[in-house]
Amino acid sequence: MNSNMDALQAFTLKFLEISVLAMAFAVGVLVLAVVYMYIADITQTKQAIRRNYPVIGRFRYLFEHLGEFFRQYFFALDREELPFNRAQRSWAYRAAKNVDSTVAFGSTHPLNQPGDCLFLNGLFPPLEEEVGTLSPITFGANFARKPYSTTSFFNISAMSFGALSAPAIRALSHGASKAGIWMNTGEGAISPYHYEGGCDVIFQIGTAKYGVRDEAGKLSDDKLKEIASHEQVCMFEIKLSQGAKPGKGGILPGAKVTEVIASTRGIPVGEDSISPNRHPEIARIDDLLDMIQHVREVTGKPVGIKAVIGQSAWLDDMFQRIHERGLNYSPDFMTIDSADGGTGAAPQSLIDFVGLPVRTSLPLVVDKLVEYGLRERIRVICSGKMINPSGVAAALCLGADCVNSARGFMFALGCVQALQCNKNTCPTGITTHDEDLQKGLDPLGKADRVASYAKNLMHEVEIISHSCGVVEPCLLNRSHMQIINAQGMPEALTGLYPDVETLAQYRQR
Ligand SMILES: Cc1cc2nc3c(=O)[nH]c(=O)nc-3n(C[C@H](O)[C@H](O)[C@H](O)COP(=O)(O)O)c2cc1C
Repeated sequence: MNSNMDALQAFTLKFLEISVLAMAFAVGVLVLAVVYMYIADITQTKQAIRRNYPVIGRFRYLFEHLGEFFRQYFFALDREELPFNRAQRSWAYRAAKNVDSTVAFGSTHPLNQPGDCLFLNGLFPPLEEEVGTLSPITFGANFARKPYSTTSFFNISAMSFGALSAPAIRALSHGASKAGIWMNTGEGAISPYHYEGGCDVIFQIGTAKYGVRDEAGKLSDDKLKEIASHEQVCMFEIKLSQGAKPGKGGILPGAKVTEVIASTRGIPVGEDSISPNRHPEIARIDDLLDMIQHVREVTGKPVGIKAVIGQSAWLDDMFQRIHERGLNYSPDFMTIDSADGGTGAAPQSLIDFVGLPVRTSLPLVVDKLVEYGLRERIRVICSGKMINPSGVAAALCLGADCVNSARGFMFALGCVQALQCNKNTCPTGITTHDEDLQKGLDPLGKADRVASYAKNLMHEVEIISHSCGVVEPCLLNRSHMQIINAQGMPEALTGLYPDVETLAQYRQR
């Protein structure tokens, strides 16, 4: 008994001794670290705060970094965050998870916010049995050797392999296939991952011609033909500009140019990959029309252009020249991107201040097409922060045939809006090539979310259209929507195109 007590006492004393030593060691290390930081801070000349307030000044940078997360999770109200507030993101997350997206008690959305839209419900919404299947939208009818038809009016916008990780591309490809929607490759060319799920693919031709360039960096007809020979590649899109960085090319740093990205793009491994501000061979409207006609001729598939609208006189020039040269010089579709569109990386001045928002540019383009009698020749796609059903329905009311979303599908993949797409540190594995971070993204699991998001969104746009008294979303027009003006009052829109009868009849042809 006594010897047990002695052993316990000895153990307790030893434990205390070790604890005291460990604590002394920890305090010693801490003191040394503080001394080291103090000396480092007062001798450095880069940061005034650290020099003037050694050690303590460092907390400013820590809090500044952590503030982003605290604001997002604790302080930001449901409708106050940017670029997307919590209410918008939550809808996307719920739709992607295919969980109940109804809300209770009443709206938290004020009905007097300038710029917001309100849909005008009809007195006699169609009954379920009166609603048929969606009408197909056809691109390139009568002009491309292989026109493209789809019933999907909500699709995945251009995001390059490079900006996005391989697992993200795989998830999008499988998800798009399950939902029956298309996926745009973005300017980073097409990889085996894009084909993997079997979805429809739009190949984007960027200013560097990744994937379709010859040794000298010029457009290669052989490569165009090779890509067009894939059944899955349905259309080609010539990118002129994108909303987040009009007039600016892209740069993929050498560190991100892995072997598979290099072989996909047709460039050397490990070297910075820079795309020019514009297509070097397109300096005038006629050059653009030549390129459109050439790519359609070589590939046999519909060809469109993507741009963010700023100055708009070129639209008149282009539509006039199309009439002078022939409808085969016309693009089969135009993708109108919004000034507030997303990107992997862009200068803040361009992101914040250049280009028109799609609310302004979309009706402008649609009205010009009507004016020149080209509305039925040229399909209109638009993109820009339309991640919820209301945004998509509003775009259809304003005259779009289809809506593309990039960031909506990033939310479906699990994006938490950490705003780190330009840093290779994306915590959800979507925009990073760090394999450890990519492990969090299960391509097949996320594919289901991508598909559910697209299907639920389109379903709810259908609900809005039925509420407005039409049997399908493509019949929405400007009479079905009003926009809240500066005084907080809903205001009718001008122009009523697309005319319900004409467009419906045209689609049925
Ligand atoms: C990560 C990322 C990469 C993108 N890459 C491209 C691209 O390669 N080509 C392009 O035309 N647009 C690109 N975009 C722009 C989108 O296609 C889209 O036009 C824009 O983000 C607006 O849609 P959203 O508001 O739904 O994101 C990219 C956007 C993001 C977020």
